[in-house]
Amino acid sequence: MAKRAAQAQTDNPRLAVTDEADAQLYERMHGSVLPDLGMVRAAVAGSTDDGSAEVRPSNREIRSELPPRSHVLPVPNGWYALLRSEELDRGDIVSIRAVDRDLVAYRDEEGGAHVFDPYCPHMGAHLGDGRVVGCSLKCPYHGWEFGADGRCARIPYSEARIPKRAKVDAYPVREHDGFVYLWYHAAGTEPTYEVPEVEEHDDPAWSRPYVYEKELVAALQEMAENNIDFAHFKYVHGREIVPNGLSEHHFDGPFSWVQENLGDGLGFMRRSYGPGVAVLRFAGLMTVVANTTPIDRGNCRLKWHFYFPHDVEPAADDLIASVVGPFGLEADVPIWRRMKFQERPVLVKGDGPFAEYRRWYAQFYEGN
Ligand code: FES
Ligand SMILES: [Fe+2]
Repeated sequence: MAKRAAQAQTDNPRLAVTDEADAQLYERMHGSVLPDLGMVRAAVAGSTDDGSAEVRPSNREIRSELPPRSHVLPVPNGWYALLRSEELDRGDIVSIRAVDRDLVAYRDEEGGAHVFDPYCPHMGAHLGDGRVVGCSLKCPYHGWEFGADGRCARIPYSEARIPKRAKVDAYPVREHDGFVYLWYHAAGTEPTYEVPEVEEHDDPAWSRPYVYEKELVAALQEMAENNIDFAHFKYVHGREIVPNGLSEHHFDGPFSWVQENLGDGLGFMRRSYGPGVAVLRFAGLMTVVANTTPIDRGNCRLKWHFYFPHDVEPAADDLIASVVGPFGLEADVPIWRRMKFQERPVLVKGDGPFAEYRRWYAQFYEGN
């Protein structure tokens, strides 16, 4: 490997001259031979020394494209998809903002995924710069190691008893159907419900998941209310009718379901599991796992999976576009971007079951 790197350097005369001068200067200053800079550069750039394949760095930050935004509505309590499982390999440490907080996620050497508050209780270093040791996350500053429960399990340079306060908040995590879910509760309460696994994910009769991801400006509740906003289907999405009275919503604790009928024969079943996860089933056509995660109070991140029966799969792109394209999600985006939440909207017959829906939704603000 080192030989190939050296060869690559001498192929480029300017680089060879510069590196030769660098090497002599380095040797004079440090009394030792210059390390293989080709390898160092390749590692820093995240590529192999021959530049052929990109190696994803273990420590990464997923930054939001959107400026932080506040909102009158707090982040609701519930399960949220933080990452796709593929985004978190063993040994990976990902810094990400979600549920209006800075978070750090890591996958331990046994394959378990964990989500922590990222600031070390010792001196406040960001654990996103640390590394995974066994099942623990090691702080980059003084090497304290935090176990899967968030408690400090080892202080490598001190024999003192580990203080009780030496712990970070560890969020409850579940992983299924290709997503790492975290539980958020304003008062720190343990999970009060579970999100069931989606059978299509492991069913050979269904396609692999097609991934759709997007960030958008909206509070989670504003996006959710869109689903029961019957009139907008005509004026925003171009449906022929206002599908008022064609569907009946059922509420059961943190769950809700509805067989939507939008006219023109288009219909689907939507099951919601708390505020962050919904599964839409268009019978015989496609299933959508629609995860919506607040980045902060005023911005959301979508992580969706689309599944298709194999005979429908050739139309996958068109079907996805029908849901998220200019007649679907894209049409809502500019409305959400500029709207102001109306605590007491002026409603008329035909508007949809807003009062009932808001009563159901209020349960997710407990603890604020
Ligand atoms: S700041 Fe983390 S170990 Fe010191
Ligand atoms: Fe809409």
